Amino acid sequence: MAAGLLNGDDYRAVARKRLPKGLFEYIDRGTEAELALADIRQSLDRIKLQQAVLAGHDNVDLSVSLFDRKYSCPLIIAPTALAGLVSHDGEAKLARAAGTFGIPFCVSTQSVMTIEDIRKGAPDAELWLQLYVWQNRALTWNLLDRAQGCNAETLIVTVDTPQGPKRDYNQRNGFAIPFVPTVRGISDVLRHPGWLCSVMLRYLMTTGMPSYAHYPPEYRTAITSQTAAHDIKIEKTLSWDDIAEIRDRWQGRLILKGILSTVDAERAAQIGADGIVVSAHGGRNFDLAPAPATVLPEIVAKVGGRLEIMADSGVRRGSDVLKYLALGSRSVLIGRLPLYGLAAGGEQGAIDVLAMLVEEMQSNMIFAGIGRVEEFKGNAIV
Ligand SMILES: Cc1cc2nc3c(=O)[nH]c(=O)nc-3n(C[C@H](O)[C@H](O)[C@H](O)COP(=O)(O)O)c2cc1C
Repeated sequence: MAAGLLNGDDYRAVARKRLPKGLFEYIDRGTEAELALADIRQSLDRIKLQQAVLAGHDNVDLSVSLFDRKYSCPLIIAPTALAGLVSHDGEAKLARAAGTFGIPFCVSTQSVMTIEDIRKGAPDAELWLQLYVWQNRALTWNLLDRAQGCNAETLIVTVDTPQGPKRDYNQRNGFAIPFVPTVRGISDVLRHPGWLCSVMLRYLMTTGMPSYAHYPPEYRTAITSQTAAHDIKIEKTLSWDDIAEIRDRWQGRLILKGILSTVDAERAAQIGADGIVVSAHGGRNFDLAPAPATVLPEIVAKVGGRLEIMADSGVRRGSDVLKYLALGSRSVLIGRLPLYGLAAGGEQGAIDVLAMLVEEMQSNMIFAGIGRVEEFKGNAIV
């Protein structure tokens, strides 16, 4: 572990220093009044885990079965747009870090590297593709074909983003893709020469201005032009019929991300999804969304036998992962923490963050007297 960086807050503090403010706030903050963000934290802080005395374990087993696979620990690196802005080729670095632990890495539709380049940079990683359905379906289906061509067998369709959320701070900071040169934005970048040289200038000298790499080339430099804006706009009226169509088209595993109610979970099961992520998008989308921890138990009770249920939002320590497992999640996605690691130390920083989470999980399992992480379900005191 990097010297002096002992927990998630330490990594976050370094990320705050190293990244331009516009980028750091894009990663770190929530939406509107940031109520969901605060609520997610409080919901996790309220949960306690049972303690068992005189139930010691020398070694604890963190491995979990998910779908038909065994993973070394119950973690998945969540899809995060623009991870490649945090560090040069950031998505490949995260994919390799995930590979080191034998856990999946979710490629965002809005990544800076294409899925093909991520595959090249991380040949052995298990890649999942996260899909935002675009208005132009032909382009959307093309992305699915590309994912299959890269051996990505699992598709995560994000269903909680019918539109871009209201994030005032992005506007204030002048943070936009493609970059719009504003006085504030330029002076922000100039105040972070390390990031400017190691990330931005490196792109400019090699592949050019970073952008959303999965957009067709003619759209990347002109995302704001009318036709392009329409084609690659996230589908506002995405419906269960669209999910049924995707189910028909996609032969691999299908996961719906952003489910927060038993009614929607039931529909996901009926439509033939293989899994769901009970997620509030890290408090970044709908500010009035319930915290996943508060709805997870009823969703597990309703569809747990029919679907693999994962959860995310708010994980800052290994104990947060255990809490989601105790409430019935089979594995947990982490979004911001690996990005803080990436900002603090590149690929090694992301690996260190994963190692830190593993250690924190192990330690809490020993206090809880539980030898196998798969036995955590039901252990929460809510
Ligand atoms: C910077 C950033 C970008 C994100 N981009 C996406 C995305 O492109 N697609 C998606 O489904 N979720 C996206 N998310 C949400 C994450 O997948 C995940 O649900 C969330 O980050 C989990 O909360 P956590 O960051 O507290 O771990 C993003 C999150 C962050 C922090």
